[in-house]
Amino acid sequence: MIVVFLNLKGGCGKSTSAVHLSRYLLKRNKQVVLLDADPQQTSIDWIDSLQPAIPRPECRRVTQPKALQTQLHDCLNRFDVTIVDSPPGIGRLQRILLLFADVVMIPVQPGIPDLRATPKLLEAVRLARGARRNFEPSAALPAIGKPEFKAFTFLVRTVPNTLLVDKARMLLRDRDDAHFLEADIPQRQILADAMGIGATVFDVNTRPARQAAESYRRLFELAGL
Ligand SMILES: Nc1ncnc2c1ncn2[C@@H]1O[C@H](COP(=O)(O)OP(=O)(O)O)[C@@H](O)[C@H]1O
Ligand SMILES: [Mg+2]
Repeated sequence: MIVVFLNLKGGCGKSTSAVHLSRYLLKRNKQVVLLDADPQQTSIDWIDSLQPAIPRPECRRVTQPKALQTQLHDCLNRFDVTIVDSPPGIGRLQRILLLFADVVMIPVQPGIPDLRATPKLLEAVRLARGARRNFEPSAALPAIGKPEFKAFTFLVRTVPNTLLVDKARMLLRDRDDAHFLEADIPQRQILADAMGIGATVFDVNTRPARQAAESYRRLFELAGL
């Protein structure tokens, strides 16, 4: 299974969510590889900085579309789950990911610029559905993923009872090109601090960490991961 984290915007929790999904799945004894397609390499840096006792997924740095295509084929046969952390935007690399993903995870920050950018990404998801149904193999693209795939939006860095969160929720619930997961990841300092202490919230036994871990667990369960 290939799970891809996508958004036009940076800073919306793609890397944080990708690293946490890898740790969540490792705890469930899955074979996991994390492909970091963002030149900023936040995910790989995070995994590299994990304390020695914490199990880590295999990681690969792949920022070129062609190399990514090769890696996706290779990883499909060798791992239960391939997680891809993508750079912001919707260019060639992200379009390839949309052709291969089994699950597309779209974290959305409840801010005006992020909400305005969301329809453009969801349009790319819709186009990918059509492209996958009508796919014809070529020398450049001999194979892609199955015609059907899942796409989910979810809110990250939410502050409860704010107008923006309500507005974001309504906007995302309204879209039928991606299913809105009713499992917000709240704004929590421990999620920002975790990388600096060489851990994920699944590895820290404090109340805020357990609460943040529970939010991610709920989100991943709802997504069927
Ligand atoms: N739920 C959260 N609460 C608080 N800070 C968060 C949360 N999720 C992400 N962050 C912080 O926000 C910043 C951007 O997150 P990141 O996962 O790197 O986003 P992206 O990969 O989309 O650019 C980081 O500093 C990260 O620690
Ligand atoms: Mg990132």
